Amino acid sequence: MQFKVSVIGAGNVGATAAQRIAECRLADVVLVDIVEGLPQGKALDLLESGPVKGTDVRVEGANDYEATRDSTIVVITAGLARKPGMSRDDLLFKNFAIIRGVVAEVAKHSPEAILITVTNPLDAMAQVTLKTSGFPKNRVVGMAGILDTARFRTFVAQELGVSSDSIQALVLGGHGDTMVPLTRYCTVAGVPIGNFLDPAAVDRIVQRTRGGGAEVVKLLKSGSAYYAPAAAVVEMVESILLDRKKVLPCAAYLEGEYGIDGIFAGVPIVLGRGGIEKILEIPLDPGEKQALESSAASVRELVGKLKL
Ligand code: LAC
Repeated sequence: MQFKVSVIGAGNVGATAAQRIAECRLADVVLVDIVEGLPQGKALDLLESGPVKGTDVRVEGANDYEATRDSTIVVITAGLARKPGMSRDDLLFKNFAIIRGVVAEVAKHSPEAILITVTNPLDAMAQVTLKTSGFPKNRVVGMAGILDTARFRTFVAQELGVSSDSIQALVLGGHGDTMVPLTRYCTVAGVPIGNFLDPAAVDRIVQRTRGGGAEVVKLLKSGSAYYAPAAAVVEMVESILLDRKKVLPCAAYLEGEYGIDGIFAGVPIVLGRGGIEKILEIPLDPGEKQALESSAASVRELVGKLKL
């Protein structure tokens, strides 16, 4: 069976995700954007890279949702990105309006799809996606934990001068300044990082991870990160389509897990053909639990402003 993945928003994150999905031959790709010609142009360009890259999946661009009909997965990247000095939360109301409209169309055309929300503020927009689609909670998942964890792993690897492939880590909580890198569970080839790095170095890496998105925004001056966010999206898409059941930190709707109820937050999940197949509740010490609760509180405050 040939899968179809639609990517809403043909900006940097959406187009880069589309490129990697096509190059990995994971699925046919439909790129949708409101800007006339943009998704069609990028899709055609991607399609024409197929013979060289050895991929023959179909890639199509559109300004409406007809082409997205019966998608297996829809990745939602539409919305505004941060500019220097802006927090993710500053995007709340503008992106709320955009996501609501997008999700209504997406749900109408692909009632069985799994939705991956990427637009910021991530956890709040995932909730808008869940509410607007009316889909069951296992079919709406937010990207962010993989991205934050990838940044954390990168910085630990740099500090130690080893491959980032040998670093395992988990960053939980909301995708914001209060995210919770679980340093106790970070290992170098299975050995806790405390054996390699002193607490001050770990703390520095935690702070840099929390500011990882802003660091890129500041350098780019216009727009925000896209290579790493798109890589995180593609890992999710692949785990779902190939039913790999990877354990990945993603934003899931919580109903009592970790003592959190009625909001999205980043937690380890099993991601497969059924979407969020399981939420893993790992043991947290009191400090970690408190950090996760305060991160959840800031998500709750933000969602509260939307009066969903
Ligand atoms: C980041 C933005 C995309 O973390 O949220 O880079």
